Amino acid sequence: MKLQEQSQDIIDLCGDAVELDLLVSQMKNLMVEHINEGRKPGALVVEYKPPEELKTLIDLDLPYTGIGVSGLMPLLQNVLRYSVNSWNPGFMDKLYAGTNPVGIITEMLIALLNANSHVYHVSPVLTLIENSVSEKLARLLGMGEKSGGITCPGGAFSNQLAMLTARNYMFPEIKTKGYCNFGKKLIVFTSSGGHYSIEKTGMALGLGIDNIVKVPCDDQGRMRTDELERLIIQSLERKEAPFFINATAGTTVLGAFDPLKEIGKIAKQYKLWFHVDGSWGGSLLFSDEHRHLIEGSSLADTFVLNPHKLLGTPLQCSFLLASDRQIFRQSNSLGAQYLFHDDSKYDLGDGTLGCGRRPDAIKLFIGWKIYGIIGYKQRIEHAFKMAKYLTNLVKKNSRFRMVLESPPNLQVCFWYVPKRMIILDQEEKESKKYQTWKEQMSLVTKEIHKRLQERGRFLIDYSPLELNGKELPPFFRVVINAPSINEHYLDELVKEFEGAGEGVLEYLEENKKFQNGLNITNGNCYMNGNGHVGGNGVLRTLGRANGNNKE
Ligand SMILES: Cc1ncc(COP(=O)(O)O)c(C=O)c1O
Repeated sequence: MKLQEQSQDIIDLCGDAVELDLLVSQMKNLMVEHINEGRKPGALVVEYKPPEELKTLIDLDLPYTGIGVSGLMPLLQNVLRYSVNSWNPGFMDKLYAGTNPVGIITEMLIALLNANSHVYHVSPVLTLIENSVSEKLARLLGMGEKSGGITCPGGAFSNQLAMLTARNYMFPEIKTKGYCNFGKKLIVFTSSGGHYSIEKTGMALGLGIDNIVKVPCDDQGRMRTDELERLIIQSLERKEAPFFINATAGTTVLGAFDPLKEIGKIAKQYKLWFHVDGSWGGSLLFSDEHRHLIEGSSLADTFVLNPHKLLGTPLQCSFLLASDRQIFRQSNSLGAQYLFHDDSKYDLGDGTLGCGRRPDAIKLFIGWKIYGIIGYKQRIEHAFKMAKYLTNLVKKNSRFRMVLESPPNLQVCFWYVPKRMIILDQEEKESKKYQTWKEQMSLVTKEIHKRLQERGRFLIDYSPLELNGKELPPFFRVVINAPSINEHYLDELVKEFEGAGEGVLEYLEENKKFQNGLNITNGNCYMNGNGHVGGNGVLRTLGRANGNNKE
């Protein structure tokens, strides 16, 4: 081969490296700008556009001839411009927040390796990391010497795999022969505040959504253990096969912690699988101050923990832990010989429902290495401090009404109560007056939510909820998670609500949004003029804002 041809070969072989060098250096600038943009005072979390408008702003056409690196950067800029900037502390909409620089680097490492962690021989280091991190987490939860786990693509899938594992372990004949001839209904218990993935799993496993029994919650959103036991006994009397309890450590809306210790004891007494969905609250194990909230975790057969929520690890990073780390392979393996060869002990994919899998564990591994337990502890404790600060702000302001007087976790939930509007504390849930109020409050919340979204400074979600047997109208749920949240942002947040709430009642009246026969002029649920609003009574489930909500 001539010298000239040889050097051309080398350039071709190195082409990827040259292209990566170019892309990474250009991307680096975009990334740094994006973070800086998110942290500028007054910056928007999102330049919100409805879908039809957004379609005209992003080039969605797929070309025959590629646009090349030079064409790519403007496209990436546009993607960043119209996406939600989760580096902005005003992103308080979901249980995850922005990630951190080391998270980005780890994602790049995963992309660089393009490794699949289903079998050991294609991802040896990553497999050992996954085993090691899972074992460490499970041990910290006190799940015992044999404990360990695997990662799954998210909390919902982890819950699904937990239930599948339990069912296959407890009823191996269903695994092979199916459910048709089993003869008994399989029953699952979860609380009315539990995540919907438990019902979805009931749907996916053929149990039927009706057989996922919702155990009522108390006035703080925690599963009632007296009700749980009553429902288990009833199920046994009906000759059903109750087999799985899902307790939640940190519910999605209120952040409540089910009493794990008591539930664990009940599970043991009736020989049910005890699963803890700690997708949100499980990470509290890193905080000495708040770990007591997940006391009883050690009793769990399986436990889910999502570092991509409270710890800022990039999405997705979810661990499904078990008191017996072999249980996943034992319950779910099909021993597909073409993939999992003779000694598949280290082939983690064999224990899951999937085949190829992302090596997500390394994201927590690297984060943990760089920050240490102490870093996560500080992150969690800062978040609790900020949640308390916001709670106090809200309680002092007559425009707001807390849903729970003392939030158990990092969600601060409240209604924004416009002038003249009242909170119906003591009304019976069936009464027409309560229903009217609920509908009106719902309209108010949704209208303010729309306005906040259009203003773009803060992104905050809302939710209705059934609490202690009463259906509450939608309220705002502010999630305090990002370490960049500080007192100043929270002061701004309250002002933003006041701005968005300005004139909301008048707008709804003028636009005749208060429909369904609600007689707004009679003012069933709010006062015309400056009358007293509210009363001293408190829906037993509801906290009160300071004072009488008097204007
Ligand atoms: C308690 C709980 N479990 C499970 C999930 C689902 O987690 P993921 O979105 O990672 O699937 C959530 C999501 O918010 C949750 O709050």
